[in-house]
Amino acid sequence: MKVAVLAGDGIGPEITAQAVRVLAALATDGLALELVYGAVGGAGYDAAGDPLPAETLALCEQSDAILFGAVGAPRYDGLERALRPEQGLLRLRKHFDLFANLRPALVYPELAHASSLRPEVVAGLDLLILRELTSDIYFGKPRGIVVNEAGQREGFDTMRYNEGEIRRIAITAFEAARKRSRRVCSVDKANVLETTQLWRDVVTEVHADYPDVELSHMYVDNAAMQLVRNPRQFDVIVTGNMFGDILSDEASMLTGSIGMLPSASLNAAGFGLYEPIHGSAPDIAGKGVANPLGAILSAAMMLRYSLGQDAVATRVEDAVRAALRGGARTADIAREGEPTLSSEAMGDAVLAAL
Ligand code: IPM
Ligand code: MG
Repeated sequence: MKVAVLAGDGIGPEITAQAVRVLAALATDGLALELVYGAVGGAGYDAAGDPLPAETLALCEQSDAILFGAVGAPRYDGLERALRPEQGLLRLRKHFDLFANLRPALVYPELAHASSLRPEVVAGLDLLILRELTSDIYFGKPRGIVVNEAGQREGFDTMRYNEGEIRRIAITAFEAARKRSRRVCSVDKANVLETTQLWRDVVTEVHADYPDVELSHMYVDNAAMQLVRNPRQFDVIVTGNMFGDILSDEASMLTGSIGMLPSASLNAAGFGLYEPIHGSAPDIAGKGVANPLGAILSAAMMLRYSLGQDAVATRVEDAVRAALRGGARTADIAREGEPTLSSEAMGDAVLAAL
């Protein structure tokens, strides 16, 4: 099995290095894994003048899965949009049609204290945010900044979804719910936006094939509020690209740290890109203190969803739990005054448990 490793920018290389150590240990232990490396984001721009160099894309095409770090850094913000680091990621998602973005938010008992909410509100939380990833206002056309008739600059983007795009993510949501607590909450803004009225209609139609799964609908503003009021009411949340981007960052704080959350972005064939949901964190980049657990847990998702290694994935997840149980803490998940580990020392703790 071949994995394309694209570490990217900022803390991307630091955290990906720890996930790679875990994979390398599994390879030594008999897992047939080959890792190949490519430049992406700002690193791609520096290497080849393109946030997704052709060579990197070719590498991904020859691989069974992509392990991704993070992209973006302030020094690229002045570039024209097509050359900015984020485009590397967005083009990969579109190119491989990675429409289903799974963002599980799990509260580990050891970390309930690190949540911004009271421990009794988040204890035992196990939520799956399923974000549509290849359409919506992220990709809708037309878009641009023009000078209007009044001589003012005017910016515009287009939110759009066709029914096929909604149907396939709805099916993914109901199927995922069947393996969990059989409850789907579809999040939209159907009281205002036409696009999301269609979203609600199509999700409701698809639900007819899943009578064993409970479906509810919620407006996105209410969902944002409910997530911090009573997050345990949710099992699977399915939503569009932009709402999912926002709600998944919010949900991450329930778990204690955005550094803990992994994600899988899958296409219909099961090919996937795996990345922690956090960004490149320029403020702590290069210091070796970032939490690598989101990256390591993303590697576990990769083993499960693209490489067919369910038992090995569970082994990695158990090792993360064991490291946490043993008191391993990076700065983002430590209590005040508690000793904190570097990214690499956290990697050591997971490897020791593995
Ligand atoms: C995410 C990120 C990306 C997004 C950025 C880096 C383009 O925020 O994966 O959530 O907006 O999708
Ligand atoms: Mg985001």
